[in-house]
Amino acid sequence: MSQLNPIAAPYTTAPIDWNAIRADFPLIAGHDLIYFDNAASSQKPKVFLEAMENMVKNSYANVHRGVHRLSQQATDQYEAARKTVAKFINAADEAEVVFTGGTTDSINTLAYSFGEAHIQPGDEILLSGMEHHANIVPWQLMAERKGAHIKVIPVLENGSLDLEALDALMGPKTKLLSLVWVSNSLGTVNPIPYLIQKAHAYGIPVMVDAAQAAPHMPIDVQAIDCDFLAFSAHKMCGPTGLGVLYGKRHLFEPLPPYRGGGDMIDRVRFEKTTFQGLPFRFEAGTPHILGAVAFASVLAYLSNIGMRQIEARERQLSSSFRQQLQQNFPEVNAIGTAADSVSVVSFLVKGHHPMDVGVLLDNQNIAVRTGHHCCQPLMDRFGIPGTVRASLAFYNTEEEIERFFVALRKTIQLLR
Ligand code: ALA
Repeated sequence: MSQLNPIAAPYTTAPIDWNAIRADFPLIAGHDLIYFDNAASSQKPKVFLEAMENMVKNSYANVHRGVHRLSQQATDQYEAARKTVAKFINAADEAEVVFTGGTTDSINTLAYSFGEAHIQPGDEILLSGMEHHANIVPWQLMAERKGAHIKVIPVLENGSLDLEALDALMGPKTKLLSLVWVSNSLGTVNPIPYLIQKAHAYGIPVMVDAAQAAPHMPIDVQAIDCDFLAFSAHKMCGPTGLGVLYGKRHLFEPLPPYRGGGDMIDRVRFEKTTFQGLPFRFEAGTPHILGAVAFASVLAYLSNIGMRQIEARERQLSSSFRQQLQQNFPEVNAIGTAADSVSVVSFLVKGHHPMDVGVLLDNQNIAVRTGHHCCQPLMDRFGIPGTVRASLAFYNTEEEIERFFVALRKTIQLLR
C-alpha cells in the first residue's frame, strides 16, 4: 500500500475484532464512559494522533509556497491527502475535492458561489424539512441577497420525506436541490440516488449534505451522480476545522470564489486579480495542513475496517437500541421511525424535558445530546422542544446499550 495513497486496498471482508478496534480509541477504551454523542463529534483513534505527531516531528511546513525541502514534503503529503479523500468518495478527479473548514463552511461556500453565478430574483432553492441549520441558513442568506425563495419538502410523521410532494415542488424556477442524506436528529436515511435522479429529470443539480452519511456508509459520488457533496472530518474520527466540498468539475470550476487571499490567485494586480482553477480557487489562505494529512490516515484506518462493515455494525447496533427502547419503555416516545435509519435514535421521556433526562444520564456517565440538534424547523414540525439523541458509532457495543437501558430505567424512576 503506497504511503501517499493509503486507500489502495479494496474493502476487506475478513471477520472484524470490534473489541480490538475499540482499543484504538484512547478516550473510551477501558473507561467507564458510555459515549453516545457520536453525531455531534466522534472520538479519535490513535492513528490520528500518530499521523499528527509524525508530521509535526518530521515534515511540517506551509504548503504550495516554498522551494525548500520541507515545504515540498508537506505539499506532497497535503496533496496526497486530497487524493485519499477523492478515492474514499470515488471522485473522478482529485481536483474536485476542496478542503474546507467543515460541512457548514462547505455549504456556505457553495451557497455564496452558486448564488453569485446562477441565482436571479424569483428563483427557488429546494431544501427539506429535516435539514440542520447549516443547510438552511446559508441558502436563506443567499436567497435574501439575490431575491430568491426557499421551498421545503415536507417531513411525514414517521420522520421520512414526503416524496409525493416532490413533483409539485420542482419546476423551471428550481435552481438547486440541497438535501441531507442522513438526518442528524432522526437517523433517517433519505433515498438519495432516487432524489438525485428525480431532480436531474427536471434539470436541477443536487447538493448532498453527507455530514451524517460519510461516517456511516460508503460514499460513491459517481454512482449516486450528485453534483456537490459536503462532509466534516470531525464526525468521522478526524480533526475539527476540516471538511470537504466535492463538486463535479464542469459545475464547480466556473463558480466565482467565496473567499479571497493567498493560494487561490493566479495573478494579483491592484487593477484586477485572476484566480486559479480547482481546487485552489476555493482554498484561500493557509489550509488545515496537519488536519488534512491526519484525516488521510484516519480514512485509511476506516477503509481498512471497511465502510460496508462499519455501516452493517452501526445499523445492527442502532436497530437493536431502537427495538429495545420501543419494546421495554412505554414511558418513551420515539421521534423518527422511518424504515431506513442508521446510527441515531431520538426519543422523549413522556412529560419530561429532554435536558433533564440528559443531565441524569450524564450523572451516570453517559454522554448523549439533548435539545434541538440544530434542527429547529424539524422540532417545530413535531411540536417538541427537542429530543434525547443517542448516536452510536462502530466502536460502541451491545453491552453499552444494555448499561444505557439500566441507566435510562433509573433516570425515569428519578424523574417520577
Ligand atoms: N451537527 C452536529 C450534531 O448533530 C453538531 O450534533
